[in-house]
Amino acid sequence: MMTKIEDNKVPEHIAIIMDGNGRWAAEKGLIRTEGHKAGAENVRVILDHAKSRGVKYVTLYAFSSENWSRPKEEVKVLMDIFRKYMKEDVAELQKKKIRVSFIGDRTRFPEDMQERMNEVERETAEFDSFHVILALSYGARDDMIAAIKRIAMDVIDRQYMISNIDENVVHNALSTHGIPYPDLVIRTSGEQRLSNFLLWEIAYAELYFTPIYWPDFNEQDLDIAIEAYGRRERRFGNV
Ligand code: IPE
Ligand code: IPE
Ligand code: MG
Repeated sequence: MMTKIEDNKVPEHIAIIMDGNGRWAAEKGLIRTEGHKAGAENVRVILDHAKSRGVKYVTLYAFSSENWSRPKEEVKVLMDIFRKYMKEDVAELQKKKIRVSFIGDRTRFPEDMQERMNEVERETAEFDSFHVILALSYGARDDMIAAIKRIAMDVIDRQYMISNIDENVVHNALSTHGIPYPDLVIRTSGEQRLSNFLLWEIAYAELYFTPIYWPDFNEQDLDIAIEAYGRRERRFGNV
């Protein structure tokens, strides 16, 4: 049964730390990478549901800059999953006129994947009903360092003075520029930390932690998170 959620209580932007694939698999006696496959399948379900609820932006933490240090074989399988996801699932999103962008250090990916990322961003740039942001090889500190370098260069180039650096300047230098800050951050699997995800952007986001492993996190669980968000008194909104 569909629960009714008041429109004005639906977060405009939800950011999700999709955690717990490995433990999900282990509990079923499967290898970790089976968990990653199940996790990738679940993305479609949750995106469809978020869109139907009126959410406008969803940012998904799929692979952190720290995740490169996982065992080689696991990283390889994850790359295969991402490649397949970008070919098949992202094509589906494109057909549905959904905008797709990527944040993170894409230069660490094989060339064909980088090309695909650039192509998808270009081809979906005009779609404005729903925007999916995939965080791949992403780390908030790396993103902030890159932003600081951009700002420093602009000061050297006399685009503006140090005294003009404000929140807006920083926002515009981040990879998430132009995207409203997340209203709600969901982390699955019971861990209660941010693991280097969107640190600047989520300064005032509501945080929601659930013990459910990502592959099991379903439409109803998303509704429960949205309802919990709707019950909270928010003090500060977006930029
Ligand atoms: C999240 O699941 C997916 C990625 C980080 C790629 P994990 O692989 O972290 O699963 P757990 O936390 O070990 O259960
Ligand atoms: C965070 O999960 C990154 C993603 C979900 C992609 P991790 O499982 O890698 O984070 P830690 O190591 O538990 O902090
Ligand atoms: Mg984990």
